[in-house]
Amino acid sequence: MDISTFGQINPPNRLLMGPGPINADPRVLRAMSSQLIGQYDPAMTGYMNEVMALYRAVYKTRNQWTFLIDGTSRAGIEAVLLSGIRPGDKVLVPVFGRFGHLLCEIARRCRAEVHTIEVPWGEVFDPQQVEDAVKSVKPRWLLTVQGDTSTTMLQPLEQLGDICRRHGVLFYCDATASFAGNVLETDAWGLDAVSAGLQKCLGGPSGSSPVTISPKFEEQIRRRKCIEEGIRTADHADGDEEMIYSNYFDLGMIMDYWGPERLNHHTEATSMLFAARECARVILEEGLDNTIARHKLHGDALLAGIQGMGLEVFGDLNHRMNNVLGVVIPPGVHGEQVRQTMLLDFGIEIGTSFGPLSGKIWRIGTMGYNARKDCVMQTLVALEAVLNRLGFASKYGAGSQAAWDHYAAVTNGVVGGQ
Ligand SMILES: Cc1ncc(COP(=O)(O)O)c(C=O)c1O
Repeated sequence: MDISTFGQINPPNRLLMGPGPINADPRVLRAMSSQLIGQYDPAMTGYMNEVMALYRAVYKTRNQWTFLIDGTSRAGIEAVLLSGIRPGDKVLVPVFGRFGHLLCEIARRCRAEVHTIEVPWGEVFDPQQVEDAVKSVKPRWLLTVQGDTSTTMLQPLEQLGDICRRHGVLFYCDATASFAGNVLETDAWGLDAVSAGLQKCLGGPSGSSPVTISPKFEEQIRRRKCIEEGIRTADHADGDEEMIYSNYFDLGMIMDYWGPERLNHHTEATSMLFAARECARVILEEGLDNTIARHKLHGDALLAGIQGMGLEVFGDLNHRMNNVLGVVIPPGVHGEQVRQTMLLDFGIEIGTSFGPLSGKIWRIGTMGYNARKDCVMQTLVALEAVLNRLGFASKYGAGSQAAWDHYAAVTNGVVGGQ
């Protein structure tokens, strides 16, 4: 092998304005480049405890069990579902995009009896629709997505916790794409489990999934306790229910590793833990409410710019995520050619979508480190230039002017920035 043909990693400069991943905050990258320490070093276990405390604040919860699953957001989802669903359990999934289907798919692999309700992509559910389905299905779990990035819609969750409580249902939410960019009240909304990822509004790379688990869910997990041979002692007793059918994603074992017993499980992904810790520090220093308001400000400015350019926005505008916008690809415009030109001539990445929306919308994100005015303005100017070059004539400069006007109106208090 001629090793000289494999150069050092030197990725091109890109501004990532798609639905995630986004450019990581340089503070997070710096934290990740710190030297490793042993997994039982008091400094390391101290950092683990700090991570738990920091994410309790971001999740707005008092849940003791607030920690990281090593792996991308999907790892957090799998850990919750594998540990929460016993084979044969009924689950109800309100599906309003691709990631609802993902919950169904993972739940099926947990051998759940999966029930769904669906609305067309671009819409969300009314709480009454969910309650009617809960009454007829009588599930053990309600599995929801807060922000379904595929459609850019945000499902209101406030009232679902109360419905779950009244019907004795456990309540989970995949908040991967919405966490820290939109309001999420873990305790006030009665959530039993929430999972997320770093690569969206948290401003980090993918590869770590912060999760939080209610005391009620913890109790259910403990009933399925099963400790590996080789580390179990005479004091360890198995639970009275069937074990969790995954070793890596057994939340009971992971909690014993993160808890005072520090019972060996996986080797914690140290650099990712450093990243996750810095993501939370960045947000809490800014103030969680301010971070969410920043996502709304720049998301709204992007919206104003897109509409100012004469483009149509996808979906129910009353229920859109702050941090990702769906833009209808105008007739006669080749969506992929636009994305390619944005990437190769301007170094800006925007997204496409999946399934029924593939080739129909672009998705533009304003999140995490990239929820900034300069990112919004650069993206609008580039998109406008590319569209005009490729056949969609807009009034030149109208998009960026509209975004500027939005920023000015917020500064002058004419429209709300929150
Ligand atoms: C809502 C939602 N859930 C889950 C995922 C899967 O995340 P990951 O790719 O980090 O596993 C994504 C990724 O975009 C997402 O947007």
